[in-house]
Amino acid sequence: MKPRDGGQIQATTESEIWEEAYQNVRRSMGRRKQLLGFFDWIGEEKTVLDLGTGDGLDIQALEEMGHKRFIGFDISHNLLQDSPHKGVVGDAHKIPFRDGSIDIVLANSVIHHFDFPRMASEIVRVLKPGGLFCYLEQRPTLARSILDWFTMQKWVGTIIPYLKHRRIALSEEIEDYTGGLENYPRIARKLLELGMDLEREKKTLLGVLAQWRKKPKVPGGFSQFNPD
Ligand SMILES: C[S@@+](CC[C@H](N)C(=O)[O-])C[C@H]1O[C@@H](n2cnc3c(N)ncnc32)[C@H](O)[C@@H]1O
Repeated sequence: MKPRDGGQIQATTESEIWEEAYQNVRRSMGRRKQLLGFFDWIGEEKTVLDLGTGDGLDIQALEEMGHKRFIGFDISHNLLQDSPHKGVVGDAHKIPFRDGSIDIVLANSVIHHFDFPRMASEIVRVLKPGGLFCYLEQRPTLARSILDWFTMQKWVGTIIPYLKHRRIALSEEIEDYTGGLENYPRIARKLLELGMDLEREKKTLLGVLAQWRKKPKVPGGFSQFNPD
């Protein structure tokens, strides 16, 4: 991975071009902190598994907000190498952690990369009873369609270099929308089916933030999950 260069695209292979473009978008720490501030566990003695951590910006933001315990996890060895924290390389469809071992799973802008039903089962499996799944994701709003259309016009990148990077990152991601942006009802249904409760949700102009809790174990060994 080459260092960021303030707007010029220098990477050579296709995956490097995407990784470099990705590293030049969504860099605002202020905005990240503002969004992450939606979650109410920050600062608690809880370990966060950051699924699809990339180069670790959320970990950095959470750390600056006073949180201390993290595991970064990503399929890209290159991106993890650029993270200031040690991470684990792997595929979120097969998370290499024990059942019931993780307090909080965070997924920021990664659901659309995944086969969500498979990934959701893995997330719920690794969560402790009472553990949290928190996600931030894009949403197919009119504002997003306009922004994406504008971004995809090649001439825009010649005027605004940031949008050239965004176009590369976006076109790479569109090819990879296996989870799909249109599938929020399906995502919620799957999480309910797996015994999760929706604790908080917020829709923004471009996206959605949600915090789901795995039902805690109750005395007698049964969970409080009631499929009805
Ligand atoms: C749009 S980036 C988001 C990165 C980071 N969460 C952030 O907010 O900056 C999506 C990330 O998901 C990772 N990813 C894609 N498919 C994955 C998979 N199957 N398992 C783990 N990580 C994956 C990519 O390598 C990339 O770092």
